[in-house]
Amino acid sequence: MRILHYKLLTVSFFCLFAVNCTTTEIPLEEDPAPIIALVKYNTDVKTIIDNNCLNCHGTATPRIGGIPLFNYTQVREEAEFGSLINRMNSTTNPMPQSGILSAEKLAIIDKWKADGFLEN
Ligand code: HEC
Repeated sequence: MRILHYKLLTVSFFCLFAVNCTTTEIPLEEDPAPIIALVKYNTDVKTIIDNNCLNCHGTATPRIGGIPLFNYTQVREEAEFGSLINRMNSTTNPMPQSGILSAEKLAIIDKWKADGFLEN
């Protein structure tokens, strides 16, 4: 009887490990490759903003988004002093509202900040 218990225990331990192994084997999402070149508004940032934000932030007094984001001065102002970078990285209240952008795009915005918000 004792031996049977022991065997059962061993088997259940083995199952536990098997389950653990399969769950830890899920590959982690890879970080985007580091950006070496300087990131600039005109060449890198503008396309991201134009394609993802102007639906709601595209006029001088946007009816929906509140703040305008269609030129360098506006985007820099919001990135440097406003909540643009926080909102773009927010998992609970992201901009765009439809969902956080890809890690590649967010890395471009982060590097733009690190490089000092260059225009061109
Ligand atoms: C579908 C419409 C929509 C899109 C697309 C959108 N926004 Fe917004 N955004 C809003 C609305 C509505 C608000 C105001 C409510 C709020 O803060 O959530 C807002 C607010 C903001 C704010 C806060 C403004 C403040 O008052 O301080 C920032 C910053 C912002 N958006 C940035 C962006 C950026 C950057 C993008 C693109 C990457 C983007 N939004 C895309 C609708 C949108």
